[in-house]
Amino acid sequence: MSDEFYINRCLDLAALAMGNVSPNPMVGCVIVLDGKIIGEGYHHEYGKAHAEPTAIKAVFDAYGNEAENLLKQATAYVNLEPCAHFGKTPPCADLLVKHRLKKVVIGNRDPFSGVDGKGIEKLKNAGIEVVSGILDDKCRYFNRRFFTRIQKQRPYIILKWAETANGYFATKDGHQKWISGALAKRLAHRWRTEEDAILIGKQTAIMDNPQLTSREWPGKNPIRLVIDKNLQVPLSNHIFNTEAKTIIFNEIKTDVVGDIHYIQMEDMHFYLAQKIAFQLYLMDVQSVIVEGGANILNQFLNTNLWDEARIFTSSTSWSDGVSSPNINGSLQETLQIGNDKLSIYLNNIE
Ligand SMILES: NC(=O)c1ccc[n+]([C@@H]2O[C@H](COP(=O)([O-])OP(=O)(O)OC[C@H]3O[C@@H](n4cnc5c(N)ncnc54)[C@H](OP(=O)(O)O)[C@@H]3O)[C@@H](O)[C@H]2O)c1
Repeated sequence: MSDEFYINRCLDLAALAMGNVSPNPMVGCVIVLDGKIIGEGYHHEYGKAHAEPTAIKAVFDAYGNEAENLLKQATAYVNLEPCAHFGKTPPCADLLVKHRLKKVVIGNRDPFSGVDGKGIEKLKNAGIEVVSGILDDKCRYFNRRFFTRIQKQRPYIILKWAETANGYFATKDGHQKWISGALAKRLAHRWRTEEDAILIGKQTAIMDNPQLTSREWPGKNPIRLVIDKNLQVPLSNHIFNTEAKTIIFNEIKTDVVGDIHYIQMEDMHFYLAQKIAFQLYLMDVQSVIVEGGANILNQFLNTNLWDEARIFTSSTSWSDGVSSPNINGSLQETLQIGNDKLSIYLNNIE
């Protein structure tokens, strides 16, 4: 089997922790001897064991006293450079050195300043053969949320909306009218389990009274973020229920009331998207879905502060309404979700 095969296996394992490890990256590790996987593991949850110790433990669990000897002849595959620093757990590079692995094959070098080549250096200094850059682009895309936070000092930003076949986004008078179907809703709930936070504007919070939870898919709820300058969203609205933490960006107060956090900002009408992105970065929020309305979405689009857009287009047309935002990224994929077409764009505008 090729290096690519085992790095792909690392990604498959790592993906099992989608939504559970932020602000860490998703990492899987596979230990191979003579073409056989003798142990594998992944980073399950933020603050818990990393992929490498989990895989090494699996070797010990399977082979007992023999494990120490097997590891000395084995190759460890890992989609991200083993860490070199003490974080919530000890350095993984030290563990690989301790067990004297023969070879380590890596997907991406870790851009985090505490690692950034230092893990590779530790391994090489200990006489371990190191190969890195296997499926580099694929691994980077896989951990795009982590790379964006570290390299751009902001969360990975996903814009999401639904529009009619003739490009309408909302009714003119603001009353709620569903555009996409039941399957699209379920998929959107799955997406919510995968990201740290979800953001809406005041009008959407008032007019649609959304819950912004992942109730139609197993998994965690994202942190709910609402832009409400003058605190006008009624406290009886769903976003104030106890299902999830909610942060209200406003100009009136900073306060914490149970799960409701109020964050006061100055001059919100200037550079709002930039301010929100930086505030979320400071809070270690690694990814956010912006779900509208058009006003808020357009502010992220106009400042080019977005990475991905997921747009459902229904098969129905309306006679009038509010136009949906214009998108000019590169179309990555289109899928049919029930009666709706899903278009996924990536932002390739510098
Ligand atoms: N098709 C879809 O996927 C979809 C998704 C979500 C919502 N919707 C629909 O969209 C409609 C609401 O959209 P919308 O565009 O009218 O409203 P919105 O984006 O939800 O909220 C806009 C409001 O946010 C506040 N705001 C915006 N920029 C701000 C800034 N820089 N600083 C401070 N406050 C700021 C303003 O309120 P103040 O200045 O008055 O405080 C503004 O009126 C609803 O009808 C809803 O059903 C459709």
